[in-house]
Amino acid sequence: MPSHPRHRAPTTSIDDAAPPGERAGHGERGVGGVGGSEKSRTVEPADPAELAVDLRGVHKSFGKAHVLNGVDLQIPRGVIAGFLGPNGSGKSTTIRILLGLLRADSGTATVLGRQAWGDAVEAHRHLAYVPGDVNLWPGLTGGECIDLLCRMRGGTRQGAVAELTERFQLDPRKKSRAYSKGNRQKVALIAALASDAQLLVLDEPTSGLDPLMEREFQEVVRRRRADGVSVLLSSHILSEVEQLCDTVAIIREGTVVEQGRLEEMRHLTRVTIDVITAHDPALLDNAIGLHHLQVHEMAEGFHITGQVEPTALQDLLPGLHTLHVRQLNVAPASLEELFMRHYRAEPGAP
Ligand SMILES: Nc1ncnc2c1ncn2[C@@H]1O[C@H](COP(=O)(O)OP(=O)(O)OP(=O)(O)O)[C@@H](O)[C@H]1O
Ligand SMILES: [Mg+2]
Repeated sequence: MPSHPRHRAPTTSIDDAAPPGERAGHGERGVGGVGGSEKSRTVEPADPAELAVDLRGVHKSFGKAHVLNGVDLQIPRGVIAGFLGPNGSGKSTTIRILLGLLRADSGTATVLGRQAWGDAVEAHRHLAYVPGDVNLWPGLTGGECIDLLCRMRGGTRQGAVAELTERFQLDPRKKSRAYSKGNRQKVALIAALASDAQLLVLDEPTSGLDPLMEREFQEVVRRRRADGVSVLLSSHILSEVEQLCDTVAIIREGTVVEQGRLEEMRHLTRVTIDVITAHDPALLDNAIGLHHLQVHEMAEGFHITGQVEPTALQDLLPGLHTLHVRQLNVAPASLEELFMRHYRAEPGAP
């Protein structure tokens, strides 16, 4: 496998590249001045040098459409960061800005300590990118496409292409025009995961993979993290994010509305209680911090469900105790519940 360093071409073979017109006419540096979004929280006040990705107050409009409205996104080095949000919320646009494929209207975008727009060539020596919609050179075999992608990017880890080709069960001798969507994704994933990049930028990279391959993907990404690689993973597959990611950022209407360690974010969410009591729980009607209370009378007692703010759980227990509890389930919020709160929220709501 040739491994001489080269500049990575801006994904000429991969469908997600910026349309040529987007790069034209941007002579001056467009990224300057730090804005800020009041809604988002940073992961932690990290030293910018320790951040793999550092976007601050990034705005981007296409004509009259304001697509990014002050995106703040900080990803510490060495973590797998999930990037979630409804369709059209600005994930791919944010990613294209940090790849230097699009220029932000304002704000700062830094990748591995380098300006995403002004220093893209240098940044791309150290990152690898996989889009969700992979287009390959139809006349080349999968193996030749992997080879080409690796040569365009630069450093490839010794033996990694063969190992990953085997692991993802890809037949590299087939012409890529004959590949299914999942197989095309495997080609791009193999080239990216075999690289020695410090940052992997993955924009819905597994939407075409079957569950077995999804598991392999997660295993390889964890191994890359163990080697100190940072990963930005945009995904609609919540289970993938839940199992793989250390941190999660949720974007809605071009603003990062939630950002942090998954465990911390869970802490902020209500827990679900499911209780069966012997006595009528009328006293819970006005309990503070208890929401969506539902009570069903049954032959053997009362079935109560509701959501409790984590800080209110302690105060609720003495009241429950007097009701003679027969069964009690307290479950933390799943990522899905956390996520759905943001998906369902009214536009403009905090
Ligand atoms: N080049 C462009 N010109 C005009 N509008 C654009 C352009 N690129 C993106 N948009 C718009 O910006 C918004 C955000 O798009 P983006 O692709 O970033 O969303 P996303 O969060 O990645 O969505 P998805 O989950 O569907 O991939 C959309 O409304 C989209 O139509
Ligand atoms: Mg997208």
